[in-house]
Amino acid sequence: MPSPPANRSGVKRIGVLTGGGDAPGLNAVIRAVVKSASNSNVQVVGLEDSFDGLIEPDRSRILKPRDVTGILRIGGTILGTTNRGNPFAYPVQTSSGKQDYSERCIVMFHTLRLDALVVIGGDGTLGIAYEFYKRGIPLVGVPKTIDNDIVETTNTFGFDSAVGFATEAIDRLHTTAEAHRRVMVVEVMGRYAGWIALYAGVAGGADVILIPEIPFDLKKVADRIRERDEYGARFSIVVVAEGATPVGGKVSLIAEGTAAIAERLGGMGARVAAELEALTGKETRNVVLGHLQRGGAPTSFDRVLATRFGARAVELVLAGEFGSMVAFHPPDIVGVPLEKVVGRTRKVPVDFDVVRTARAIGISLGD
Ligand code: F6P
Repeated sequence: MPSPPANRSGVKRIGVLTGGGDAPGLNAVIRAVVKSASNSNVQVVGLEDSFDGLIEPDRSRILKPRDVTGILRIGGTILGTTNRGNPFAYPVQTSSGKQDYSERCIVMFHTLRLDALVVIGGDGTLGIAYEFYKRGIPLVGVPKTIDNDIVETTNTFGFDSAVGFATEAIDRLHTTAEAHRRVMVVEVMGRYAGWIALYAGVAGGADVILIPEIPFDLKKVADRIRERDEYGARFSIVVVAEGATPVGGKVSLIAEGTAAIAERLGGMGARVAAELEALTGKETRNVVLGHLQRGGAPTSFDRVLATRFGARAVELVLAGEFGSMVAFHPPDIVGVPLEKVVGRTRKVPVDFDVVRTARAIGISLGD
């Protein structure tokens, strides 16, 4: 076996946690962290349910290679996760009474004799990680989200799996749409970025793709559907990102956000379907793919990316490059400063090549 990277930081025991919404590939990262750390004689402690794993000593467990055998292809996370808010925003009930959540985590980090953390999460979790880093916790971040909206990395793991599922769903809707000559609207996730809608829409051969970055006008979408009818394609597939908005309109919410919980997007597909039916007179159905996009096994692309992220995160820990995040800069996995990542969202550039390709082949983007 090749010799492991030099342990320049002197780290002996690291914690690993998964935070925010789950994404296919989380277990693949955990497995890679445990295996590569173990090859460098570094012990790994798995923290349960994101930073909640640092509230009580019994919310964590040592992970050895045997504990991560067979989890590469399994969705979800063996450590559990939560996307309930920011430890810096509210106190927490502990076995020693009500305490400042973030202070408690810092104390417990030392009580558990951890030397560093690997934090696997999306923008929210990475922002929390950065706050802990500024308060003296050595850590490295790993970008995770099906939304693919984290800056400084061309891909997050989970995205390819979500796109794969959404593409298959669109394939299935094509046959029923054609059989009934209907308009099928498919609402996909992605929060305020249109990556999933754009990629699944192009991969699935959608006729219309509505993304948050390009406000839409449904009259133009209806024109496109009529044009298709005129040349004999009497069905249409309309992919709607959950964060898409009409020109001058607002994002559709299922629930408002609070200090602890982010706002929940959803419902734009239903609105688009109802309006298109009225505008075109064509029977229209709406399908919301929802959390199906987050479940199931990661694709091979996501397994490789997640494994590379996990192994590289351990290398950064061993090199003492804390306050960084692993990132995919094809063909390499590199470390970038967390400071450059937090508080920003990676949106689809409106002149992005895939957007131009979609337009070139006649897909309507609603504008
Ligand atoms: O960020 C991932 C994501 O799946 C978004 O695409 C979606 O808006 C949100 O999480 C859903 O969150 P929850 O699981 O809390 O409903």
